[in-house]
Amino acid sequence: MSQSKSLWGGRFKTALSESALRFSSSIDHDKTLYQEDIQGSIAHVEMLAACKIVSSEEMRRVRKALKDILLEIESGELDLSWDKEDIHMAIEQRLIQKVGSMGGKLHTGRSRNDQVALDERLYLRSAITEIKKLIAQFQRVLLYKSEKYFGTIMPGYTHLQRAQPIFLSHHILAYVSMLERDYERLSDCYKRVNRLPLGAAALAGTSFPIDRLSVAKKLGFDSVLENSIDAVSDRDYIIEFVSVCSGIMMHLSRMSEELVLWTSQEFNFAKIDDAYTTGSSIMPQKKNPDMAELTRGKVGRVYGDLMNILTLMKGLPLAYNRDMQEDKLPLFDAVNTTRECVYIMTHVFIHTKFDKLRFEEELKNDFLTATEIADYLVQQGVPFREAHSITGKIVGYCIEHQTSLSKLSLKELHKFSHKFSEDVFEMLDPHKSIEHKKSSGSTAPNEVKKQIVYWTRVLKTRK
Ligand code: ARG
Repeated sequence: MSQSKSLWGGRFKTALSESALRFSSSIDHDKTLYQEDIQGSIAHVEMLAACKIVSSEEMRRVRKALKDILLEIESGELDLSWDKEDIHMAIEQRLIQKVGSMGGKLHTGRSRNDQVALDERLYLRSAITEIKKLIAQFQRVLLYKSEKYFGTIMPGYTHLQRAQPIFLSHHILAYVSMLERDYERLSDCYKRVNRLPLGAAALAGTSFPIDRLSVAKKLGFDSVLENSIDAVSDRDYIIEFVSVCSGIMMHLSRMSEELVLWTSQEFNFAKIDDAYTTGSSIMPQKKNPDMAELTRGKVGRVYGDLMNILTLMKGLPLAYNRDMQEDKLPLFDAVNTTRECVYIMTHVFIHTKFDKLRFEEELKNDFLTATEIADYLVQQGVPFREAHSITGKIVGYCIEHQTSLSKLSLKELHKFSHKFSEDVFEMLDPHKSIEHKKSSGSTAPNEVKKQIVYWTRVLKTRK
């Protein structure tokens, strides 16, 4: 590439070597930002005209040329190969080719440093909006499943050991609450993304009488970043966003893990439709939950993206440093991976059936209602710790005699405490155990119904 072709080549005697250009070019990835770059440039040139820094005629010609360039990029006509340095240079060079020196006026009162930050913020705004929509859609699917399976009882787990009977709907609604926090975090992060860096110029602002507020309004930003140095140095908005994505991925991996377990022959609680499972090339009987496993696996990429951007920014002096060009790789990867995973897990859940009978089988002959026995004793005036110890002894007795709580006679129970009477056997029924729950947010039928009503209302108005 000859020196004369470079837009910043004025003070250089020799051209940038090919290897240095190849090494430093970012167009292969930042071409993703072409729409945002053109959108930002149009808003900028319109403001330059309104402030009488360029004429209206110049603005109209530049704006028309920028719109044409957009079409050229979309049709694949414009060459965006590596020797163009980055998408901002490629568009500006093409503009100058089209409208001559007038194209060079577009860069008045701004620099690539604020342009890059602007493009990223515009890009992130749409990415956040899109991921929020996908999360809301996932929540709606889960809500639908929780309504469909209302009444189905399953063993609830702690330490992956059977703990107490719960409603399957209650378990699924826990996912809805988890996703709600992700949704809230995205909304909160959006507030800090939605601020205009443009007009910071390289770092110190500009001597041209530009109107940053009008650009902010035109582009739908809530406000203008108040410090020009911070405006070009800051990448907190990316760090924050990728950390929110890491949280989303962590949640998806927990759901994935449960699907992997539940679809195993050992659990057999759920079946994923053939369309969302894969077979083995060697073992014909296999049906593998690959979508859930891949989602679980892709978490590592997004955590890696977070480490990448945090480390990239560590120790950088203010303001812009070329290191920061590397920020787009983790940003784009986090957006794409998170978007894909939320989407696929939504579809996996749409195509998953839960097996009511299997749950019931597992509820029989088990110690899931042991806590109910302890609570029963408490109701008869026994202090909880003592009740817990008595019940523990009863469970130990059952294990030793290879029997279950429901098979014990009242006479056997009296060996442990005389507080037991006939009505204790009611407590052993998992349905009764669920109905006995009283606290708000519990797995009691009414409480679960309340959650369903609440989420139906919240998610109905959410776009
Ligand atoms: N490609 C660069 C980036 O993405 C553009 C900014 C370059 N600015 C500069 N002063 N060298 O960060």
